Amino acid sequence: MATSEQIKALVRAHWSDDPERFRTVALQVAAHEATQGHGIFAHELRAIVDNALRKEHRAVIVQYPPELQGLVRTEEPSTPLAALVLPNGLTDRIHRVIEEYVQRDKLRAHGLGPRRKLLLAGLPGTGKTLTARILAHELQLPLSVVQLDMLVTKYMGESPARLRQIFDLIAHSPAVYLFDEFDAIGGGRTLGDDVGEMRRVLNAFLQFIEQDRSDSLIVAATNSPELLDHALFRRFDDLLEYPLPGPEERRRLVSNALGVFLDKRFGFATVIKASTGLSGAEIVLACCDAMKAAILSDSSHVAARALVPFLHERHEVRRR
Ligand SMILES: Nc1ncnc2c1ncn2[C@@H]1O[C@H](COP(=O)(O)OP(=O)(O)O)[C@@H](O)[C@H]1O
Ligand SMILES: [Mg+2]
Repeated sequence: MATSEQIKALVRAHWSDDPERFRTVALQVAAHEATQGHGIFAHELRAIVDNALRKEHRAVIVQYPPELQGLVRTEEPSTPLAALVLPNGLTDRIHRVIEEYVQRDKLRAHGLGPRRKLLLAGLPGTGKTLTARILAHELQLPLSVVQLDMLVTKYMGESPARLRQIFDLIAHSPAVYLFDEFDAIGGGRTLGDDVGEMRRVLNAFLQFIEQDRSDSLIVAATNSPELLDHALFRRFDDLLEYPLPGPEERRRLVSNALGVFLDKRFGFATVIKASTGLSGAEIVLACCDAMKAAILSDSSHVAARALVPFLHERHEVRRR
């Protein structure tokens, strides 16, 4: 049967206001039960979680103009703010975005607007896409991801027109619009070759975002802010810079990711040291690797010394 620790973890997850966390713990309990030879119970528990998931992850059917098919992809994320591990100052600023949007009518009554146009900058795997999903969930809006690379490659010559259609959508269908890999167009004015099209797209973007007075959030994310044209920065209400996780964030990332697999006497000090310089995404992947290894060797816990080699492996992958 589930241990008292697991039952406590489940109950805590239930009141943590984080359905994702509750599901993770439930799946971890199932994995633990399987390692104890309770295969049928583990299977039943997983089936309950799968069924609940299927009901929640309804595909969102949005009627786009035919020209935008494939260019914009919409989903309804269910990740809460509690899942995001960032230094406090940055979490506070994301919280402020949520507060201002929720109470936007109050602000507008005084002639002010909520911050709605955000530029997220930081290395890959630091939580930018995750933030867009969380904002959508917390604001009860759909998330629409704009495939910028496709805009400039497939629609050569007509991309400013497509961009206008996207901004029409932004004006009429409130959602969080994520322009991922924004440097694909945001660097347009400084690039040497193929400048013509890029410059047109960037100029169109600058003009449309300036005019936008919608109820949507516009989130642009980039791994290389140094490539961005300077004219862009002042079009955004906020620039959020995502650092690599510090020691305290690494501890929280590991503790969240391992959940009930976390060994009682887990040696955080060695793990915090071995994860220096890794991104949140790499740390979460190493934790998954360690949990898989535990499950395959019929163990229900991950000790620090078992996680460290997987963290080293992620350093290796990065060096290649
Ligand atoms: N700051 C973070 N807090 C919690 N999880 C994170 C964080 N950064 C990365 N992750 C984990 O890594 C995954 C990928 O991160 P993502 O948001 O796609 O990175 P980015 O968009 O910055 O490249 C996330 O889904 C999450 O599991
Ligand atoms: Mg991303």
